[in-house]
Amino acid sequence: MKIAVFGLGFVGLTTAVGFANKGIKVSGYEVNKEKVEMLKIGKIPFFEKDLDEALNTAIKTNLIITSNINEALDSADVIFYCIGTPMGEDGSADLSFILKALEDTAKNIKICKQKPILIIKSTIPPGSLKDIFLPFLKKLELVENKDFILANNPEFLREGYAYDDFMNPDRIVIGSDFKIEKIVEIYSKFDAKVIFVSPNTAEFIKYLSNTMLSMMISYANDMSIIAKYIGDVNTKKAFEILHMDKRFYGNPANITSYIYPGMGFGGYCLPKDTLALYKQAKNKGYESILIKEILNINNKIIDFHIENINEDKNANIGILGLSFKPNSDDVRDTKSLLLIQKLINKGYKNIYAFDPISNDIFKNTYNVDVKYINNIDEIINICNTLIIATAWKDFENLEIKNKKIYNLRYI
Ligand SMILES: NC(=O)c1ccc[n+]([C@@H]2O[C@H](COP(=O)([O-])OP(=O)(O)OC[C@H]3O[C@@H](n4cnc5c(N)ncnc54)[C@H](O)[C@@H]3O)[C@@H](O)[C@H]2O)c1
Repeated sequence: MKIAVFGLGFVGLTTAVGFANKGIKVSGYEVNKEKVEMLKIGKIPFFEKDLDEALNTAIKTNLIITSNINEALDSADVIFYCIGTPMGEDGSADLSFILKALEDTAKNIKICKQKPILIIKSTIPPGSLKDIFLPFLKKLELVENKDFILANNPEFLREGYAYDDFMNPDRIVIGSDFKIEKIVEIYSKFDAKVIFVSPNTAEFIKYLSNTMLSMMISYANDMSIIAKYIGDVNTKKAFEILHMDKRFYGNPANITSYIYPGMGFGGYCLPKDTLALYKQAKNKGYESILIKEILNINNKIIDFHIENINEDKNANIGILGLSFKPNSDDVRDTKSLLLIQKLINKGYKNIYAFDPISNDIFKNTYNVDVKYINNIDEIINICNTLIIATAWKDFENLEIKNKKIYNLRYI
C-alpha cells in the first residue's frame, strides 16, 4: 500500500507523518518548495506538539517529502488531498486549490496504481464532491469507478493537539456511497470506528461540528454581555459552575441529547426562562439577537414539520407521545399540543394519540379534538400515518409495517 498526501500544512503534514508512523509507505507532496526543503531536514514551519519528533521518525522510515508530483504519485493506491479551502471573496469556500490538485493528478493518473482512490480530507461545503469535483474529473475525461474512486474523509483534529488527535481519533468518517476496502485497511491501524456515509453527509458533519463550536463560543460571549448589563454577576465563576453540570461528562456526554434535532423545546422551564432572560436583558438595554433567534427557531421548527406532513385530511393520524419529553408525564408547554392544534388547523379530522403515561393528564389539561388510545398496538392498527412526537424509548424499536411514519424526534 502506498499513500500520497497532497498539501503539507497542519492537516496534510500530520496525516502524512501519522500514516507513515503507522507503518504505511507515504509520499508527502507540497507545492511550496521552501516548506519542502525544511520538512526534508525534519523541521516544521509551525509549532505543533510532538509533530517534529514524529516527523523525524517518519522521514527515517516510511515518509518521503517531495515537490515532484511524479515521485508523489508513483504507484500510489490512495491520495489524500489536505489542501487549503480559504474564504473566497464572497465568503464561500474557495475550492480552486483542490481543483488544481485534482487536475494535476488527472494528468498523471497513469503513474498511480490502477483505479487510485482520491480522498478529499480538506473541509469542503456539502455537495462539493458530487456537484463540483466529480463533474470536474469527468470533464477531464476520467471515468468514475474505472479510472478512479472519489471519496471524502473530513478531519476533526485540533491545532495544538494535531498529532495526538490524528493518532487517536474519536471517529473516522468516510463519505462514499459504497464501502472502500483499502480505506478500511488503512484505518484498521487506528482504534476508532470507521463510519461510511453519503459524501454529502460526510461533508455536512464537518460543518455540523464546526458551526456548533462557533455557536457555543458566541453563546458564551452573548451571555457575558447580558451578565454585564444585569450587573454584579461574577461571569468567570458562573461559567466555571456551569461546567460542573454532570450532563457534560461521560461518553457520550448526556448533553448530547440537547444537541439533537426534534420538534423544539417545551416543558415548564426552557421556553419561559429563555424568554424571561431575553426580556430582562432588553429592558436593561441589550437585545440579544441570539436568544431571540433561539426562540424564533423553536417556533419555526414545528411549522417546518407541519408543512412536510401531507396526507389525506380524512386519514387516521396517530400522535405518538404527549409529554414534553420522554420519562416524564409533564405536559406543560408540550410541543405535542401545538402539533395537534396545527394539524387540526390544517384540516386533519381524525387525530388519535397515545402516550405511555401521559394520556390522562393531557386529556384533563387540554381541550383538543383527539381520540385517546391506551395501547401502542391499537394506535398502530388504527392509524396509517404515525407521527413520533416524544422520543420515548418505547417508540424506538417498534415493528411497524406499511405505515407512513413522521419521525419528528429522529429516534
Ligand atoms: N487547521 C486545522 O486545524 C484543520 C482541521 C481540520 C480540517 N482542516 C481543513 O483542512 C484543509 C487544510 O487545512 P490546513 O490548516 O492544513 O491548511 P494549510 O494552509 O496549513 O495547508 C495547505 C497546504 O497545501 C499546499 N498546497 C496548495 N495547493 C497545493 C497543491 N496543488 N498540491 C500540493 N500542495 C498544495 C499549501 O502550500 C499548504 O502548505 C482545509 O480545508 C481546512 O479547512 C483544517
